[in-house]
Amino acid sequence: MKSFSVSVVAALVATVQAGLRFGCSTLTIQRLDPVVQPGQNPSTHLHHVVGGNQFNATMTGDVGARGTCTTCQMSQDFSNYWTAVMYFKHPTNGSYHRVPVINNAALAAGTTGGITIYYTQYDLSKDNLKQQPITVFRPGFRMTVGNPATNATEGAKHIGLSYNCLQTLLNRGPEMRDFPTKPCPAGIFVTHHFPACWDGVNLDSPDHQSHMFNTIDLDGFTNAPPCPSSHPVRVPQVTYETVWDTTQFSKLWKSGDPNPFVWSFEGDSGFGTHADYMFGWKGDALALAMNKSECFYDGCGSITKQDMSVANKCTVKDMVGENIDGWVSHLPGFP
Ligand SMILES: *[C@@H]1O[C@H](CO)[C@@H](O)[C@H](O)[C@H]1NC(C)=O
Ligand SMILES: *[C@@H]1O[C@H](CO)[C@@H](O)[C@H](O)[C@H]1NC(C)=O
Ligand SMILES: *[C@@H]1O[C@H](CO)[C@@H](O)[C@H](O)[C@H]1NC(C)=O
Ligand SMILES: *[C@@H]1O[C@H](CO)[C@@H](O)[C@H](O)[C@H]1NC(C)=O
Repeated sequence: MKSFSVSVVAALVATVQAGLRFGCSTLTIQRLDPVVQPGQNPSTHLHHVVGGNQFNATMTGDVGARGTCTTCQMSQDFSNYWTAVMYFKHPTNGSYHRVPVINNAALAAGTTGGITIYYTQYDLSKDNLKQQPITVFRPGFRMTVGNPATNATEGAKHIGLSYNCLQTLLNRGPEMRDFPTKPCPAGIFVTHHFPACWDGVNLDSPDHQSHMFNTIDLDGFTNAPPCPSSHPVRVPQVTYETVWDTTQFSKLWKSGDPNPFVWSFEGDSGFGTHADYMFGWKGDALALAMNKSECFYDGCGSITKQDMSVANKCTVKDMVGENIDGWVSHLPGFP
């Protein structure tokens, strides 16, 4: 774990409002976890990963400087973003089948599978709070949100982690804490909001969370109250949205039966939902964009966008080499 003192944190950005939203196609689905289980191949459970091609069992140093391609629309973003993988557990014979990811509505044409990524400043809509200045993450920065071992909401720790039962790709229905209790006509929409206050010193922490602090007390893209003195540096709020296409399993879910979906860590409760972030923007590309006012969705005038047909050519090797598809008798990594 490397650390920087507050005094060397890059130029603080004036209080402005900028937000990025973009899609990243699926990069790989394999059992690696360079944040929580660095160096371990395979890691305990399967992940769905998007972003830059430096993704590996171990990731150190300046990923953005080394990256040569990315599945993200923003071509200077070599960060990696990942979550657990959703599986369907057959209610009568107990076999598992991976649930495919489909792209969110309104993303760039050609996005395949993937995750919708947001970097927002103080809000998606204007607010009148006197906000702290914003700074962006530094090379080597990483964090997680949520915890696979959690099987209850655990109050504040679960803020920002949610499910929607999609009525259509555009009609999300109400936000929920846990898996839906009946089949969803257009899939399950999963959201992970990360905390937006940093201790300003540590690029990581032993639990990958205590260098960050969440001041948002509601779900969603809401105004975050000011950061506390323990975590005084305001960073962009990072959010992931993933659409799991559960529709092919609806007819196997008999009315009245419990939720048949599980996460790849063998969690049949939805409370263990979690996500990992590895910063990897090239140079000051993110800082320049987040330093603009009144821009959203468009790259903020300074970020280069690539065609998704180019993004989709970016790959990493399957470094684990196990069967994760078709009907399988066990979740990958579980006996
Ligand atoms: C991943 O790590 C292995 C082992 O250190 C290394 O041989 C390989 O080149 C790395 N792959 C990438 C894309 O960096
Ligand atoms: C469970 O059911 C699925 C779908 O009907 C089938 O393809 C699979 O082979 C079954 N698994 C076992 C172990 O029978
Ligand atoms: C939650 O986890 C704890 C500790 O592993 C366990 O004792 C408890 O039974 C679990 N609760 C549920 C509802 O699964
Ligand atoms: C942010 O913009 C201000 C005003 O244009 C400029 O002075 C400052 O250097 C910029 N900071 C970064 C990190 O780009």
